[in-house]
Amino acid sequence: MSTVINSSRATQTAQQAAYEIQAAPLPDRYARGWHCLGLASTFRDGEPHSVSAFGTRIVVFKGEDEQLRALNAWCPHMGADLGIGKVEGNRVVCRFHGWAFGGNGSCEDIPYSKTIPPKARVRSWPLQERNQLLFIWNDVEGNPPPPEQDIPQLPQVGSPEWSDWSLSQWVIDNNCRELVDNLSDLAHFGPVHGSSNVKYFANIFEGSRATQVMVGINERLGGTRNHLTTVATYFGPATLLCKMTGESDGMPIESILLVTNLPIDQMHFQLGFGVMVKRIPGLSEEQNQAMIKHYVDLTIQAFTEDVAVWHNKVRVDNPLLCAGDGPILQLRNWYSQFYTDADAVPADLAQRRVVEINLGLDAHPELQHAFQH
Ligand code: FES
Ligand SMILES: [Fe+2]
Repeated sequence: MSTVINSSRATQTAQQAAYEIQAAPLPDRYARGWHCLGLASTFRDGEPHSVSAFGTRIVVFKGEDEQLRALNAWCPHMGADLGIGKVEGNRVVCRFHGWAFGGNGSCEDIPYSKTIPPKARVRSWPLQERNQLLFIWNDVEGNPPPPEQDIPQLPQVGSPEWSDWSLSQWVIDNNCRELVDNLSDLAHFGPVHGSSNVKYFANIFEGSRATQVMVGINERLGGTRNHLTTVATYFGPATLLCKMTGESDGMPIESILLVTNLPIDQMHFQLGFGVMVKRIPGLSEEQNQAMIKHYVDLTIQAFTEDVAVWHNKVRVDNPLLCAGDGPILQLRNWYSQFYTDADAVPADLAQRRVVEINLGLDAHPELQHAFQH
């Protein structure tokens, strides 16, 4: 009998000591910034496209003037999705009763009514094409996109020396902060990606950009002899571009990775992953194609190792960190600016802050954001 009492006391003590995970309710807004919808060409086929994003539905379409437009898709008349309608001229026409909306969101025609209600207007969203991708601007305050959040135009995109984007998309059942955390998560490389040999790791936080510089040994992507070097920069809250230098079958490989998030709602986001590989001079077109396909497959394989975790984790505002973890809290601090009114963002976030963790490397790559030349 006494044994039972002791054991229940021990359990109680253990329970009292257990760490308590804390998490505030999910944010009441979506991050201020450019968000990638996918390849721009997808939206240029003359059809309206429905996109679930930012807790609503958006219709994206190309008018006869070749311009792409994005409008809130729920028709204010009786709620049909404009994305299942059709494009006529520079307007999208609702399938239900034929109301036609122009690029600025106002209703310009109702086929059975001589008058148009003055309130017949839907929200329009700024769009931008960069690197053959289409981006949509979200800002709960309705301000225009500031130039410092511009996504850089990469000279490699469209160059004959490089492959096209190979783009994959998934829906992840979690808040998009879980993905962004990855930029500072030094300790996950070993268990998740099998690249236990990280030699150097740094984060740079500066204004709306945050960068990870990493040098490690990764047999899959970097070969056994050479280091894999990555410089990955978030341009705003939702678009990461990464320059990767590795090796495959004894040949040095240069590639560019793209990681994007588009919140569908606070507990789902569309994850985009793109790869471009530099062709190797001297190889035939056929050999280059095979090399590119092989390397793209390897990078997708490595990237998707994170997916199972993102689907199966809770939000933790007070992560229990220890030596060997990356600067997760500094990253969260940087990321919080996109959920704060523009004029309330703390001025010190504009300053450059560098966190460096050298695990035994003599020379490390330049500490600067990717694609700044
Ligand atoms: S619901 Fe769109 S026209 Fe009626
Ligand atoms: Fe990862």
